[in-house]
Amino acid sequence: MTAEMSPIDKAKFVAAKRASDLVETGMRIGLGTGSTAAWLVRCLGERVRDQGLRIRAVATSTRTAALAREVGIDVIALDEAGWLDLTIDGADEFDGDLNLIKGGGGALLQEKIVATASDRMVVIADAGKEVEKLGAFPLPVEVIPFGWKATQKMIEEMLVSMDVLGRKTSLRMDQDAPFVTDEGNRILDLHLNRIGNARQLALALNQVPGVVENGLFIDICDAVVIGHGDGRVDLR
Ligand code: 5RP
Repeated sequence: MTAEMSPIDKAKFVAAKRASDLVETGMRIGLGTGSTAAWLVRCLGERVRDQGLRIRAVATSTRTAALAREVGIDVIALDEAGWLDLTIDGADEFDGDLNLIKGGGGALLQEKIVATASDRMVVIADAGKEVEKLGAFPLPVEVIPFGWKATQKMIEEMLVSMDVLGRKTSLRMDQDAPFVTDEGNRILDLHLNRIGNARQLALALNQVPGVVENGLFIDICDAVVIGHGDGRVDLR
């Protein structure tokens, strides 16, 4: 299958495949969202079908839930699972401390809840996601629709006082309409370039009225499986 893949897809696939080996029968698994996580779901589906792997999984988005069901994985609600043994998810950026930016696919709220309600979170990513400092990827922030422009203004004012290079923010669009999350919220993307103190920024953002959650995952990820276009895999 990997022969016809682009290097980036191959990198995502090999990372997902390697991480899928961490999953054992009887586990309650959190399934991430995005193209890398989709490879993981397909790999696990194959094991369910061919090897009799038995797992119960909590999906972090409606699209992951649909794919997981399609490939034969038993999808349950987080409240039914109670707690999870392992969550495997993609990321938009990760740094040397395994802190992340997530939410490029707009699923950061469920992703953060699921990852935090897991004994272990493993990120799967192509090597291009590794950064020295987080922030080149626009930081997604989920906000409620009510008064989102006021929330945006408060965030922009807050950014002035923080150690960030960029302060531009934009409402995420889906063609001509605002992007709507699975929870019915909106996403503001913060174009920061470089985040000096990610922990401080994550805490400060969640103090702004109207902010539901931000895409900085600090001290949540336990390991990163990094895929390369030539099929190599590294672990951090
Ligand atoms: C979705 C996410 C994704 O994990 C992140 O955007 C990476 O996506 P991809 O695997 O497609 O590069 O956070 O909200």
